[in-house]
Amino acid sequence: MDVLLLATWLCVATAEFATDLAHIEAFIQQEKYLLRKKYRPVYHISAPVGWLNDPSSFVYFKRQYHVFYQYHPYNGAWGHTRWGHAISDNLVDWAHYPPALVPKEYYEKHGCLSGSALVHNNYLTVFYTGHVISNNKTYQTQNVAISSDSIVFQKYLYNPIIRKGPYGVSDFRNPMVWNYRNWWYMMVGTAKDGLGHLLLYSSADLFSWTLNGTLAKSFGDMGHMWENPDLFEIDGLTVLILSVQGIQAEGYRFRNLYQTGYVVGKFNYVTARFEDFEVSTATFKELDYGHDFYAAKTVQAADGRRLLIAWLGMWESDFQESRDGWASLLTLVREVKLTSQGRILMMPVKETANLRTEILEDAWYSPGEAFSAGTKSFELIVNSTAVVYDAIITLEWNGRRQYTIGYIADQGHITVDRGGKDGVRRADWLPNGHLHLRIFVDYSSIEIFCGMGEVVFSSRIYLKRPILVKIGGDTQLHITQYKLRRGVGYDNKLRKHLKEHIIAKKG
Ligand SMILES: *[C@@H]1O[C@H](CO)[C@@H](O)[C@H](O)[C@H]1NC(C)=O
Ligand SMILES: *[C@@H]1O[C@H](CO)[C@@H](O)[C@H](O)[C@H]1NC(C)=O
Ligand SMILES: *[C@@H]1O[C@H](CO)[C@@H](O)[C@H](O)[C@H]1NC(C)=O
Repeated sequence: MDVLLLATWLCVATAEFATDLAHIEAFIQQEKYLLRKKYRPVYHISAPVGWLNDPSSFVYFKRQYHVFYQYHPYNGAWGHTRWGHAISDNLVDWAHYPPALVPKEYYEKHGCLSGSALVHNNYLTVFYTGHVISNNKTYQTQNVAISSDSIVFQKYLYNPIIRKGPYGVSDFRNPMVWNYRNWWYMMVGTAKDGLGHLLLYSSADLFSWTLNGTLAKSFGDMGHMWENPDLFEIDGLTVLILSVQGIQAEGYRFRNLYQTGYVVGKFNYVTARFEDFEVSTATFKELDYGHDFYAAKTVQAADGRRLLIAWLGMWESDFQESRDGWASLLTLVREVKLTSQGRILMMPVKETANLRTEILEDAWYSPGEAFSAGTKSFELIVNSTAVVYDAIITLEWNGRRQYTIGYIADQGHITVDRGGKDGVRRADWLPNGHLHLRIFVDYSSIEIFCGMGEVVFSSRIYLKRPILVKIGGDTQLHITQYKLRRGVGYDNKLRKHLKEHIIAKKG
C-alpha cells in the first residue's frame, strides 16, 4: 500500500464521512415475535420484517461472514430499499443486525441499491447505487460508505463518487469493486440503445474513478439491461456472473422473467479486457434452473472456497406471504466449483450439515410407497443404484398441491413441476454412476442439488400440512430424511451491546 494513499484514506475516513444512528435505535426496539409467521423459513435468511430482494453484497470481515440484502421493512412489497444485514461465524447460524445503509441523502432518496463490499485497511467499505426518482425520471449514481465495526456505516461526504454513466442517468447500477495489484476496478451494469452493457472504471484510491470503457455488451440476444455483475478467479479462469433482463426463452432455457448466469474466460489486466469472451446465449449458462433465483453474489471464504448466495425470488411473482407483512428469502450458501469443461457446480456448503438435528427416515422405498415428512424444514438425500431407471419423487400437500421431481433416464434430463401456469423447469443431466439428489425444504422454499451440483433448481412452494413424500418411477430409491433446525434469528446479546456501546456513545 502506497503511504500517500494510506494517509489520504485515513484522513478521509475520519473527516469526510457522515453517520446516522437512528436506524440502530429502531432496530433495538424491534419486536422478536415478528419472525413467527406462516411460511416463514427457519434456516434461510429472510428479513426480520418486510420485504427482501437481492443480496446487496456478500463479504468476509474480521472473521465473520456478512450478507447485506435489499430490504424494505414497512410491508411485504418493494419500496425504498435499505441494506439489511445478517452476520454469521459459520455460514449456517445467522443473526439479524440493524440495517447498514438507510436512504437519507439527496442522492439515494428512493433507495440504496445493491453493489459490493470489500475490506481495505481494516475498514469494511461498501459501494452501492443511489436511486432517485424525480419528475418521472430515474437517477442512479454510485456511492461509497465505510465502517470499522460493520455496524455503524458512514457515508462519504462527497458522494456520489460517480454521478452519471456514459449512456444516461437511469439504468446505471450495482457497482462491483475489486483489487488487482494495488489498482481498483469497478464494473457497473447499464443499458445503451436498449441493450445490456457492462462498464469498467478504475481508480487508485477508491474515491476518484475513471471510465475505461465497455467490458461486454448484448448484441441483441442478451437482453435490454444487465445488472448485479460479480467476478472472480477460479483455477486460473475468470467467471463473470450477470443478472440479465430481457432474454427470450428458448425451449427450457431462460424460462424465468429474468436470468442469472455466467460466462467463463480470462481477464487481461493490461488491456482491461476479457479474452476469449463473448457474452451471448451460446456462452451464457444459467446458474440455477428453478423458478426463483436472481442476483447471485459471491465471496472468497477464509479457507479459499468460492461461496455464492442469491435471491430465492423473482420479480413479478406472487409472493403469497406478502399479506403477512413480509416477503421472500435468500438461498442457502453454496460452494462454487468449476469443471474442466468450464461448467459451474454448486453444492450447499459443507457447514449445512450442522443444521441436521435428527434422522426421520433412512430406508429403501419402492415405486408406489410414500411417507409423511412430518416437518416443513428438512433435507432429503436420495440415491438410486443405477442411472438407467426413471426416478420420480412427489411432494404432496392438501391432496391437490404437488411439486414433482422427475429424472427421465432415456432422455437424459431432470424436470421439476410445481403445477400451475408455467410450472415446469427442465435441465439436461447425465448422473455419474448413480442418481444422487439433495433436496432442501424450508416452509416456503425448495432447493434441489443434482449429483455434484451439475444442476440446481430453486423455487418457492407454499407448504400446507401434511406433506407426503411419494415415490414413483421404475426403481427403488434410498432416502435419508433429516430434520433441520432454525439457523436464522436475533442475537439477544446484540441488542444489549448496541444499546450500551453504540447508542450510549452517541450522547
Ligand atoms: C408522470 O407520469 C404519469 C403517467 O405517465 C403522469 O400522469 C404524470 O403527470 C407524470 N408526472 C410528472 C411530474 O411528469
Ligand atoms: C484506465 O483509465 C486509467 C485512468 O485514465 C488509466 O490510467 C489506465 O491506464 C486505463 N486502463 C486501461 C487498461 O485502459
Ligand atoms: C448416496 O450417494 C452419495 C454420492 O454418491 C454418497 O456419498 C452416499 O454415501 C450415498 N448414500 C447412501 C445411503 O448410499
